[in-house]
Amino acid sequence: MPRQYSITAEAVAQERERVGGDIDKVDIARVVALDELELRAVGASDVRLKILAVSGEHNDDHAALADTVNIAELRGGKMYPGNSAVGEVIEVGSDVSRFSVGDVVVTHCIGQPDPFGYPLRIWAYDQPDSIGWYGEEAVVEEWQLIKAPLDCGLNLWEIAALPLRAPTAYHLWRRGLGIFRLKVSEEQLPKLNVLSFGGGVGELFLMLAKDAGHNAYFCSGSAERREALAKLGIEGIDQMAFNRFASKDDNKAFNAECKKLTDGAGMHIVCDMLRGPVFAPGLACAARMGVNVSAGWQLSTAVNYNSAGASTKQITIDHTHYDTLQGCEEATALYGKVFKPTVHNEIYSFEDLPRAMREMHEAVQTGIPIVRVAKDMPDSVKGLLD
Ligand SMILES: NC(=O)c1ccc[n+]([C@@H]2O[C@H](COP(=O)([O-])OP(=O)(O)OC[C@H]3O[C@@H](n4cnc5c(N)ncnc54)[C@H](OP(=O)(O)O)[C@@H]3O)[C@@H](O)[C@H]2O)c1
Repeated sequence: MPRQYSITAEAVAQERERVGGDIDKVDIARVVALDELELRAVGASDVRLKILAVSGEHNDDHAALADTVNIAELRGGKMYPGNSAVGEVIEVGSDVSRFSVGDVVVTHCIGQPDPFGYPLRIWAYDQPDSIGWYGEEAVVEEWQLIKAPLDCGLNLWEIAALPLRAPTAYHLWRRGLGIFRLKVSEEQLPKLNVLSFGGGVGELFLMLAKDAGHNAYFCSGSAERREALAKLGIEGIDQMAFNRFASKDDNKAFNAECKKLTDGAGMHIVCDMLRGPVFAPGLACAARMGVNVSAGWQLSTAVNYNSAGASTKQITIDHTHYDTLQGCEEATALYGKVFKPTVHNEIYSFEDLPRAMREMHEAVQTGIPIVRVAKDMPDSVKGLLD
């Protein structure tokens, strides 16, 4: 039987009890557990995958913490996490036309599209019966897959960093820019100041901004990640110099720094996937007509702001989620051309996946965490393992 990671409501509760309910002390590695799973038989429109590599994703972190909702409990007491993967097609159903055995594919995480194509539910999170891809094999429907662009110039680990984060960044960027352009035309202001806080999605967002010719600023606590982005012309701002916005004085100093960097204008588009203490400085540093976009709530789900202040500056606060199928295809076409992700300096083994999740939670990684699932890789990716 294929090995597969699971998260149970029981493990979530036991860990909560061990740390006396203090969510800051929860050890994710004690919650995400190696399990086994009999996969369903391959139906006519199904594809069986051998999973090659996966990336650590924050919704698995949220699932283990149960800090937003207790999704393991809501899923009946057990869920199988993992909604980003690169896999090799090893079997196809009789109606499958876009893929053949031997193809290497990436997944998207739309569980069920809404009438406009956006995800109503996310695969391996709140989509009922969805089985995630932190496992050795998977059976999915053909529509859930996109051909991996193996010749895009990225290695396999970099490709594995992107299936979830790149479409999210792609949608955030198009929304932020589109809203800003509704207010201020390209003729009036061709070059924008764009800021993002740390994290994989934020980095990819800035790569899109930089590629479009704008000034891009990355406010991160990680020197390695700032350095990696500096190589792409994205200017780093050390978040630790502002104590991760612990006090009002830190926020003021950060705002002054942003104004200095932008000749007093401020940031026209800000990407904030974290909220919590990051939200206030992200809003304060906005330029007139600025747009603050987010698809994340890593540090808090609630925000508070002065509506009158936002009105007089004509600030827009926008909320997005994952992209449509079409958006996922378009984002995949940008792998290597625009998206050059930073990958953590250790590629974790499958057995070390819980540690990868714990270290992601602790924000100690030098890039996006990647787990090598398959020991034997197909010939088609053997040149992409450096
Ligand atoms: N809605 C969607 O479709 C969607 C898709 C993807 C992600 N998300 C959400 O977006 C959020 C970020 O995801 P991601 O994939 O970009 O995460 P990620 O790559 O793991 O990055 C998270 C970053 O958070 C920063 N961080 C950690 N603790 C912090 C603190 N106390 N104060 C300030 N910054 C801190 C760290 O940045 P530095 O150390 O570099 O400062 C870290 O790199 C998560 O909540 C995730 O669930 C949503």
